[in-house]
Amino acid sequence: MARIDEIAPDLFRICIYLPHIDLQFNHFLIRDEQPLLFHTGMRRMFPAVRDAVARLIDPASLRWISWSHFEVDECGALNDWLAIAPQAQAVCSQVGVLVNIEDFADRPPRGLTKDDVIDTGRHRYRYVPTPHLPHGWDAGVLFEERDGVLLCSDLFHQLGDVEPVTSQDVLGRWDTAVATYQNHPILMDYVPLTPATRRRLEELAALKPRLLAAMHGSSFAGDGAAALREAGDMLEKRLGADLC
Ligand SMILES: [Fe+2]
Ligand SMILES: [Fe+2]
Repeated sequence: MARIDEIAPDLFRICIYLPHIDLQFNHFLIRDEQPLLFHTGMRRMFPAVRDAVARLIDPASLRWISWSHFEVDECGALNDWLAIAPQAQAVCSQVGVLVNIEDFADRPPRGLTKDDVIDTGRHRYRYVPTPHLPHGWDAGVLFEERDGVLLCSDLFHQLGDVEPVTSQDVLGRWDTAVATYQNHPILMDYVPLTPATRRRLEELAALKPRLLAAMHGSSFAGDGAAALREAGDMLEKRLGADLC
């Protein structure tokens, strides 16, 4: 059963917690004139996420379906959504369109480049490409300008069944998650540290987000710029030994 919380005006966090991996999966619905879903969820999660969306809007009225990078929790159920929402269009990075979605999606997608905007009516979501942050060549995030919301995908990934929104130390929780995965034989190297990592985090910090809407864990309400800059320190400290 999904938990639904309105974490910013018209922005709903639809959370499904999987106890066996101690991880929340958050899907964000923007209830606006042209509804936007950020993260489709996995295919097997589709019925639960669809039913949660149906408590907020008619799922058939979805107009935009977006995500950060090509992984099943980000966009695995894309075609299930396209099947029930005839006006909906997939929208992601140009790279994502070229390397995956043009073939993967059952209808033609829309590709975004830097500063392209998805206008949902009351809200405008600006696209910021972030290749390889948190991971994936095709990665990017959306920034809502009026309320300062950054839909930040796997950035600030936290373990556990945590509260919808917090002003507490999400960076410490992300550090714990990175450390836990680094010590895992399969999940290690989840976040690459590259020469561009700092610069991309700084680009996001310059947006001065006031809410970091994380895919896994609590959304962070507070000084998002400071948290993003400190994230660079954390990643270098935690992963820097891997640089050569
Ligand atoms: Fe991911
Ligand atoms: Fe994820």
